[in-house]
Amino acid sequence: MCGIIGYCGHRPAVPLIIEGLKRLEYRGYDSAGVAFARKDGFEVIRSAGKLGNLEEKLGGLYVYEASAGVGHTRWATHGAPTEQNAHPHTDATGRLVIIHNGIIENYAELKAEMAAQGVTFRSETDTEVLVNLIAKGLDETKDMLQALSWALNRVEGAYAIALQNIDEPDAIYAARKSSPLVMGLGVGENFVASDIPAFLPYTRKVVFLEDGEMCKITASSWSVFQVRDITPVDKEVHTIDWDVQAAQKGGYKHFMLKEIFEQPKVIRDCLAGRLDLSASRVCLPEIENMEIPERLIIVACGTSYHAGLWGMYLLESWAKVPVSVEIASEFRYRDLILDEKDVVLAISQSGETADTLAGIRIAKERGAKIIGLCNVVGSSVARESDAVIYTQAGPEISVASTKAMCSQLTALLLLALYWGEKRGSLDSKLRDGAVRGLSELPGLLEAELPALRGKASQLARKYSEARSFLYLGRGLNYPLAMEGALKLKEISYIHAEGYAAGEMKHGPIALIDPNFPTFALAPVDDLYPKVKSNLEEVQARAGKIIALTGPEAELAVDDPWRVPTPQSPLCSFVFLPALQLFAYEMADYLGKDVDQPRNLAKSVTVE
Ligand code: AGP
Repeated sequence: MCGIIGYCGHRPAVPLIIEGLKRLEYRGYDSAGVAFARKDGFEVIRSAGKLGNLEEKLGGLYVYEASAGVGHTRWATHGAPTEQNAHPHTDATGRLVIIHNGIIENYAELKAEMAAQGVTFRSETDTEVLVNLIAKGLDETKDMLQALSWALNRVEGAYAIALQNIDEPDAIYAARKSSPLVMGLGVGENFVASDIPAFLPYTRKVVFLEDGEMCKITASSWSVFQVRDITPVDKEVHTIDWDVQAAQKGGYKHFMLKEIFEQPKVIRDCLAGRLDLSASRVCLPEIENMEIPERLIIVACGTSYHAGLWGMYLLESWAKVPVSVEIASEFRYRDLILDEKDVVLAISQSGETADTLAGIRIAKERGAKIIGLCNVVGSSVARESDAVIYTQAGPEISVASTKAMCSQLTALLLLALYWGEKRGSLDSKLRDGAVRGLSELPGLLEAELPALRGKASQLARKYSEARSFLYLGRGLNYPLAMEGALKLKEISYIHAEGYAAGEMKHGPIALIDPNFPTFALAPVDDLYPKVKSNLEEVQARAGKIIALTGPEAELAVDDPWRVPTPQSPLCSFVFLPALQLFAYEMADYLGKDVDQPRNLAKSVTVE
């Protein structure tokens, strides 16, 4: 997620903006910039990389006369993380300057329309398109609020923007839709920002903007309007009692918990521009020029490997693509049988995992095509792939991967639908059900997450004495069982194994006793009878069982955990946060360092 901050007041704006951006660094970014008005136009200073690079540039300039300005840390979505693509962006005439957090879904058609009218663009970003559209509105209406209303009513997608007009250098305009934006109200100074920490040292008085609202601030005034028709809006002023640290986690105790609860938004963002509800179809322009692979080899590590294993079931069943899923550290050392007819799908949240990167390099040497499925724009895996599908999950701060996996499953489901549709192997009823279910998923999750957390907390306390867990699942729930086990062991340090339920009788059943609990994934699907009999075998040996299942299941286990179970594979999107929250609550209850578990790194960039 990007970080934005705007300031109008009595202090030098630029140093205050830089400090504010530092307090937004937790949001993740790969370039940064500031802008303020000088007599002859906007001064825009930007740099790729960390804020230190920007500060170095500013060190050589006199930037203290402005008492208004905007600043931005960019998490790249459209266009690589370069200085050219960094924000702020001015319109072609230089009258306006903008910073933006979000995704403009229809930016391509807007850009083509304005280019045809002679507008020139200097970056690859959707943001530069937006500022030129607002400039066009200003030409026609001669009024900033009307220009904003006109332009934003033409935009599809998500935005939190702040912008300045060179003719009103002491004012800032801002607006939001699906991306956060708050106002900070000081004494002789006012702020707009993505999040409270940006200005918390200066004021605790906050106004939360809602979707479809825009505002204008100066050093001594603030006002809020409906984007739709510029109707004035009365807003309540809140007083914040958080400290900066707590505020960076949005009030959550840990980043991991915050990221688990971000999963509804992650699904929305991953679907943005890719799911055409009216036509009930998927668009993946990133791979539209690629043939459906004769054979797909998925290469990944850890949680990303579990996501790949999950995707295999769908890609085989819906798209009829033969799939193998390989652990990258094994794949890279095998005597591989690979050629130009093969496609490798490299799944990596960070895009920097050494084993995965090595795997795609070896595959490329053998002529295979590479598709990257990454979260970090411009990462090594993304750059070295022939095509890349970005998961748009925003930066994942906690070492334990949660929302990233949710976005990977979303992208893999889209891929299976896309290739299935293209091959004509997808039953239209199944396709329509999946598309509709996907679009309803964020709302279902938003409603269910608090209850999932409550149950997870209760079960974690009940089973906190356990020293080892067996996680069981069949079909799509087998990779989820492995992921649940990984989550538990990596943050609570309790040993756990994820196993195909059908494999239990081939060994692990010897472990079952009253002190070796089983966590089963048992939705009422076509494999349910098999899972049920596996659980009876566990119970016959006095093993305790937690079973994630549907409301209608008659499961006589110690702890049935009944959750909504939408039609498979959508049920996985409810099971996944339940597994994550059980691990989270267990680790938190046991007093572990949830966000930075011992011995672990967020990205394993070495072998
Ligand atoms: C997951 O919770 C772990 N932190 C780890 O297994 C991670 O998924 C793995 O290192 C792969 O990382 P990547 O997705 O960035 O390649």
